[in-house]
Amino acid sequence: MAHPLHPDSVIVADLRRDLTSAGYTADAVREVWGPIADDAVGHGLHGPALAALAGRDDAPATLARLFFLGVATPREHVDRALPTVGADGLVAIGIARLDAGSVVPLALLRPQDVVDARGTAQWWFASDLDEAALGGPLPTDHVLGVGGASLTLAGLQLDTPARRVLDVGTGCGIQAIRAYRAGAAGAAASLVATDVSERALAFTRMNALLNGIEGIQTRHGSLFDPVAGEQFDRVISNPPFVITPRVAGVPEYEYRDAGYAGDDLVAAFVRGVGDVLAPGGTAQLLGNWEYRGGEDGLQRVRGWVAASPVPLEAWVIERERLDPLAYAELWVRDGGTAPGTPGYAALVDAWLDDFAARGVEAIGFGYLLLRRPASGVAALARYERITHPLPDRDAPLGAHLAGALAAFDALEQRDDASLAAARTIVSDDVTEARHHLPGVEDPSVIELRQGGGLARTVEVDPALAALVGASDGELTVGQLSDAIAQLLEVDAAALRADLLPRVRELVFTGMLRLA
Ligand SMILES: C[S@@+](CC[C@H](N)C(=O)[O-])C[C@H]1O[C@@H](n2cnc3c(N)ncnc32)[C@H](O)[C@@H]1O
Repeated sequence: MAHPLHPDSVIVADLRRDLTSAGYTADAVREVWGPIADDAVGHGLHGPALAALAGRDDAPATLARLFFLGVATPREHVDRALPTVGADGLVAIGIARLDAGSVVPLALLRPQDVVDARGTAQWWFASDLDEAALGGPLPTDHVLGVGGASLTLAGLQLDTPARRVLDVGTGCGIQAIRAYRAGAAGAAASLVATDVSERALAFTRMNALLNGIEGIQTRHGSLFDPVAGEQFDRVISNPPFVITPRVAGVPEYEYRDAGYAGDDLVAAFVRGVGDVLAPGGTAQLLGNWEYRGGEDGLQRVRGWVAASPVPLEAWVIERERLDPLAYAELWVRDGGTAPGTPGYAALVDAWLDDFAARGVEAIGFGYLLLRRPASGVAALARYERITHPLPDRDAPLGAHLAGALAAFDALEQRDDASLAAARTIVSDDVTEARHHLPGVEDPSVIELRQGGGLARTVEVDPALAALVGASDGELTVGQLSDAIAQLLEVDAAALRADLLPRVRELVFTGMLRLA
């Protein structure tokens, strides 16, 4: 039974001040133990970090030992590092207990850098002790800290304003807090964070206070139950989408699995989210989908979108596809059972049997962006695979996705004649690569490469390459197309008809923009 949390607003505000004065930042922690130990901590290996901390009792080192690694620390060091709250304050809010002269952590409390269009900032997130701190497998009611998937979704959040925001399955509150910072929630906004775990909601309240954020409402319940009858402009969710066999002996972790069979949780989310979206509202989530009996996994997602009683637009990006064995091993290891240890083979077998029973050949993972069209007519339906590495998390994708949606809407307003009358400008991050067969003057392949955004590479022919190269906002698309037709000695109308759909695609991808 986990220790209860008491996110008392006065003590947590004092803690925030103490952490700030102590200089307990992500940079300071990296500095305290160095890059090699830092990488090792990322892999759940604390030995090198503990060695680097040996003999140090300055504030960043004390806090890194206690709250980053989750190791008991002498009370006098803690009282010195946190002079206002001291060890007693930590006990009062439920994130530590006292044992003789030591402070024993009951939660992790880690600094987290944030970089977005508004600049850089520093957050702190409290969450349950992880496997390395516990020295064993996680309990099934574990409340997750900020992980890779959390940061991915945080970076994907659209940077456009939204008045009413909902975070489903908030965990430690990272998505709600990110939405708040993005300015998604204005002064009069409502920001609702839900979870089936009361402990997660308590962590979210504590983390909101720790980061100086007021006004996040926490509500208990499953999926959309806590907000039935309400509508939001933005829904964010890193839902518990992990596919888990429903057989005895397989642990059901609340943080990753909501008890559904197969990929039914993501299907239920997609089918249900339209009801809580205001017209024009968007939902962003991460998810898994199965490839069953020869059916393409993205086709399956298309079916879920089609089954929504409210028309939904969709842009779904598959980032990764795993075969059943790789998926099973990934999630068995995530649960703290390592290869070669007792139980590992039986758990992997349970996953494989479960997949075999449904004819699952592969499992896709990716990003879903859904929108309830304000007009009631769903126009955007884009399902694609982008499996190459994306630019660093330091360049969050949210602004790019918002730009693509705006470009889609602008293009929808234009028929071909109107697009031909528009001027385009090539984006600064686009470069061109030409590949020639040895000794041949004309290129056999021309590629446009995007430096930012989704880092796309698009193969183009000489006509489109010429149009993009001349897209400086001076001449219209039609004028450029006609000039290129003359140069290449081809039919002007045929070339326009060929180029315009591809210009639309380049505008959507952000390689070109409408002047
Ligand atoms: C993968 S964690 C995501 C936590 C956090 N939002 C993030 O991005 O890191 C999923 C969260 O969903 C919660 N959850 C599990 N089942 C749920 C359900 N049926 N409805 C809502 N939330 C649920 C879990 O307790 C957990 O906090």
